[in-house]
Amino acid sequence: MALPLTKIFDDRRQMADACAAWLVERIAQTQGRFAIALSGGSTPKPLYALLATPGIARQIPWDRVHVFWGDERFVPADHPDNNARMARETLLSHVPIPAANVHAMPTDGEPEAAAAAYQRTLQDYYGAATLDPARPLFDVNLLGMGDDGHTASLFPGAPQLDEASAWVVAVRDQKPETRITLTYPALASARTVLFMVEGAAKQSTLTRVFAGDRALPAARVHADGELVWYLDKSAAPVERLRGEEHREEGRREEGRPGE
Ligand code: 6PG
Repeated sequence: MALPLTKIFDDRRQMADACAAWLVERIAQTQGRFAIALSGGSTPKPLYALLATPGIARQIPWDRVHVFWGDERFVPADHPDNNARMARETLLSHVPIPAANVHAMPTDGEPEAAAAAYQRTLQDYYGAATLDPARPLFDVNLLGMGDDGHTASLFPGAPQLDEASAWVVAVRDQKPETRITLTYPALASARTVLFMVEGAAKQSTLTRVFAGDRALPAARVHADGELVWYLDKSAAPVERLRGEEHREEGRREEGRPGE
């Protein structure tokens, strides 16, 4: 099985630095609108805070950036567990992004209706009701992974894993709170799907993911464009740590993401 592009960092700060530099470059290389789907959880927080620092924020043409989410906890927008709130507090309220460019998932009313509404939001932005692998919806889709191998709000053994047509669905009975999540077809619709994973607690799960264990939702993520993994050393599977140094040297020479 071909191994995904992987970059291993000493720690979460180095990972955030590299990701911020890569994002600034990707946005600069892109004409017109730039769509990014954000992940929730704790891992991306240092990256969001970094993108909000004046030195980096001023390098980004925020009027061209459109922000979406890969998933959301179905809690009020001002609830501490709300992913959009986290991104607003760590990044979006500190940069000159037009309010119309911030596309948070609705978390009022019925979850199924909210999921359908967000699918319409994505389709309006995309300009079609069917995803074309040759024209990805997102420029970058940021994803994380839980210790159990879930990603976005796609959980092990959940029925949403087999959703092949809807772009967005509600997720009940998997977590204490209901969730809204993009499905695999929508998550894959990106020029770059970038996983950021940190922490020793995820090493054994990542080892199974890289071994292709499809019982783990993160292992089933594919990308219409490229699939890239950013890992800190404590999360990286042992064999990757051992075998990766010289492969990275090769990528460094080719100037792949993060360099
Ligand atoms: C969420 C996320 C979720 C997250 C993982 C990892 O809403 O919780 O989108 O998929 O990425 O749970 O979370 P940590 O980064 O906190 O480990």
